[in-house]
Amino acid sequence: MAPPVVAVILAAGRGRRMGRDKAFLELGAETAVERLVRHCREAGCDAVRVVRQSGAEPLPVTLRDLQRVEVDSEEMIVSLRAGLAELLCDGLCGVLVAPIDYAMVSAKALGAVVQELRSAAAEPGTRVVLPLCRQRPGHPIGLTAGILDELQHAADLREIVRRDPGRNRAVAVDDGWVLRDLDTPEDLSAAQGALRCAGMTATELMARHRSRRSYLPLGVGDAQLRWLVDSARHASTSAFLQACAVVAVRDPERKAAAARLCADQRQIHEAPMFLAVCADLHKVAAACRAHGGALDPSHLELLVEATVDAALFGQNLALAAESEGLGICMIGAARNHPVELARLLDLPEHVYVVFGMTVGWPADDPLPRQRMPLAAVLHDERYHHEDTSAWLEAADGRMQDWARAMNERDAGSDAKPIDETRGWTDRMWWLCGRGQPPKGRAGLPDELRELGIYTPPPRPAEEGGR
Ligand SMILES: Cc1cc2nc3c(=O)[nH]c(=O)nc-3n(C[C@H](O)[C@H](O)[C@H](O)COP(=O)(O)O)c2cc1C
Repeated sequence: MAPPVVAVILAAGRGRRMGRDKAFLELGAETAVERLVRHCREAGCDAVRVVRQSGAEPLPVTLRDLQRVEVDSEEMIVSLRAGLAELLCDGLCGVLVAPIDYAMVSAKALGAVVQELRSAAAEPGTRVVLPLCRQRPGHPIGLTAGILDELQHAADLREIVRRDPGRNRAVAVDDGWVLRDLDTPEDLSAAQGALRCAGMTATELMARHRSRRSYLPLGVGDAQLRWLVDSARHASTSAFLQACAVVAVRDPERKAAAARLCADQRQIHEAPMFLAVCADLHKVAAACRAHGGALDPSHLELLVEATVDAALFGQNLALAAESEGLGICMIGAARNHPVELARLLDLPEHVYVVFGMTVGWPADDPLPRQRMPLAAVLHDERYHHEDTSAWLEAADGRMQDWARAMNERDAGSDAKPIDETRGWTDRMWWLCGRGQPPKGRAGLPDELRELGIYTPPPRPAEEGGR
C-alpha cells in the first residue's frame, strides 16, 4: 500500500471577520466543513482530521465519525501542530494542510496537490507543495513527512514555506479559489454566487444576460474584485497596446458624486460598486516619453483602438461578474460629463471613461430583451441588406412584445409603464434620426480634446486662419 496522505482541516478560528463559525458556512447544499472533507477524500487523501476550538459546536452529523482534534488557541500553527500529533510516525507520505477558509477549492485542484505530494515524497529531501494559479501561490499546501518536525519550532507555516524556496514545488492549477479565502461576508456571497452559476457554460451565460438595475445591500469584496479584473484583463488588445484601465468606486460619497455626473441614475446609488471602464493611453504615452518620443493624440485610430480595448475588457468583466452570480448594468451616461468624472477619479492625461458599470447582487428580475433576428447579424459571405425591412419589423415586434410582457408582469419598468406602441425603429429615430447629437453629447469632441485622448487635426479652413 502507498504511504498515506492525511488532510488536516484547520477549523479552529472563531471567524470574527466573517461573524460566525466558518465550518458551518452554507456552500450549496452542504456546510464548508462537509464540502472540504468531501473534496479532500475525492482528492485521494487517505484520512481526514478536523481541528476545532475546544467547546466549539459539534461537527455536522455526517462527519461524526471523523477524527476531531481540539485546541485552545486560534493560532494556525498551534492548530496544525495539534492536528499532526501522533502522525509523526514512519510510513506517512505527507500532509495536506487545508484551512477551512479554502473550502471552495475544487477536488481537482486538491488532487493535483496530493498527487504532487506523493511524487515529491518519493524523492530524497523534504518538500513543500504549493498550488500555483496565474503564477501566484495559494492554498492548501502539501508538506512531505520529512518536513513535519520543523513545524514544532516554526513561528508559522509561512516561515516553513519561505525557509528554503529551493525545496518548494509548485503545481499549476486553474482554480482561482486557491487564491481566495473565505474571510468576510462578501467572500461568502461571492462563493455562494459562484456555486449558483457553477456548471454554466460561457455561451449559456451570454444568452442569459440582462442588465440589472436594482441591488441587494451587500458589498463586493476585494478578493472577488481582484479575481474578476484579473480574469477580464486577458481580453484581446489592439497591437498589444493594453489601452484600458478600470477605477473601482465603492466609497459611498465618491459613488454618489459619480452618480450625479451620470444622470443621477438610481442603480449607481444602489449598487455597492461603480466601475469606471477607461480607455487609457496614459501608459502608452509614458512609454513613448521613455523613448524620447511623444504620443500624438490627433490620430483617430488611437482613440478607436483604446476605446475598443476598453469595450472588450469591459464586456469580459461583465461576463466574469455574471459568472459569479453578480448583476451588472453598463452606464453610457459616464460620457455626460467626462472631464468632471475624470477629475473625480483623478484620471491622468490621455484617459477617459468609455462607460461605467454598476455591479452588485441583483434584486430585480427583468425579462430578457430579445435581440433582432440572428439573420440581421450573421451574414453568409456577403451582407444581405435586401432583408432589412424584415429585420426592422421583427425588431419592432420584439420590443413591443417585451414592453407588453413587462407591463403585464411588473406594471412596467422601474414603476413606470412602458409605451407598448413604440418599436425599435421609432426609438432609433428618436435617438439618432432627428439631426441632434445622440443623447445630447455634442460636447464630447471638445471634452476628449481636453482630456488629451483625441485632438482632431485642424480642418484646412482653420489651418488657413492661423
Ligand atoms: C455602453 C453601454 C452603455 C449603457 N448605458 C446605460 C445607462 O446609462 N443606463 C442604463 O440603464 N442602461 C445602460 N445600458 C444598458 C442597455 O440599455 C441595455 O444593455 C440594453 O437596453 C439591452 O438590455 P439588456 O442588457 O438587459 O439585454 C448601456 C449599455 C451599454 C452597452
